[in-house]
Amino acid sequence: MVWTRKDLLGLEDLSQEEIETVLSTAESFKEVSTREIKKVPALRGKTVVNLFYEPSTRTRVSFEVAAKRLSADVINIASETSSVRKGETLIDTGRNIEALKVDIIVVRHNYSGAAIMLARSLRASVVNAGDGWHEHPTQALLDIFTLKEKLEKIAGLNVTIIGDIAHSRVARSNIWGLTKLGAKVTVCAPRMLIPPGIEQMGVRVTQDIDEALSRADAVNVLRMQFERDEENAFPKQLEYFKNYGITQERLEKARKNIIVMHPGPINRGIEMSSEVADGLNSVILEQVTNGIAVRMAVLFLVAAANENIKNEDSN
Ligand code: CP
Repeated sequence: MVWTRKDLLGLEDLSQEEIETVLSTAESFKEVSTREIKKVPALRGKTVVNLFYEPSTRTRVSFEVAAKRLSADVINIASETSSVRKGETLIDTGRNIEALKVDIIVVRHNYSGAAIMLARSLRASVVNAGDGWHEHPTQALLDIFTLKEKLEKIAGLNVTIIGDIAHSRVARSNIWGLTKLGAKVTVCAPRMLIPPGIEQMGVRVTQDIDEALSRADAVNVLRMQFERDEENAFPKQLEYFKNYGITQERLEKARKNIIVMHPGPINRGIEMSSEVADGLNSVILEQVTNGIAVRMAVLFLVAAANENIKNEDSN
């Protein structure tokens, strides 16, 4: 097993072997959720805090379910109902949580780099559950896990990521992870949603959605993050759907078994039609299910590595 990190902050820093370690660990945990008693004692006695400064349904609940299936104690903190509202800094909040002898802090924050900053200040493990536009590593890991489960490999696959690439931590983490594992990644969006220099991450860029779909084994469709449209520069919703929305008509021109993914939440009728979201090519809910195994793997690996680090420090 190749895992010595106390934190998971992004996929940019991970090696191919480390990503494969998370995926194979997740494979072994997936079976736990099919048992009548969906629990193993791997993190018994450990405490996990979900510290969320932004809204979340899937990620927060998935981390809570994952931690509970590993027998950890779980506490959820939302910034609106905590002393963050009274002006406490992220680091002070983290240090106070650590003083409660918490082992792992799962953090979602609107600032890129927030999880890295927290991890540097604490001995507790920190898992990035999405920081600004930077990374959302567990989302990408569960996307890759789902792809591998469906297509039995990652190396050599053509994966197209469509939508708001500019503001997407999901896109960035997927690009790092997929390219490290040997997939060929195309990003497709209107020009204003493609960040300059994205080619340097090893991806192909196109504005032509039909061409991008025609060669794809899988398409990962991103949410349009209208809340980040500070300059009112985004295309209007109907215009976006007409030019970039995934419809059954568009899918019929793609490969027959193309996999359709979306990290959620979906804006139906903007990024894709309901027919596609609920259709035979969609694996969107399987992604959500796989998120539990992937997050169990991540919590297990960072906790074990941190235990080793603490043991070495005390010797
Ligand atoms: N995919 C994802 O991060 O969804 P939530 O915002 O609901 O956690």
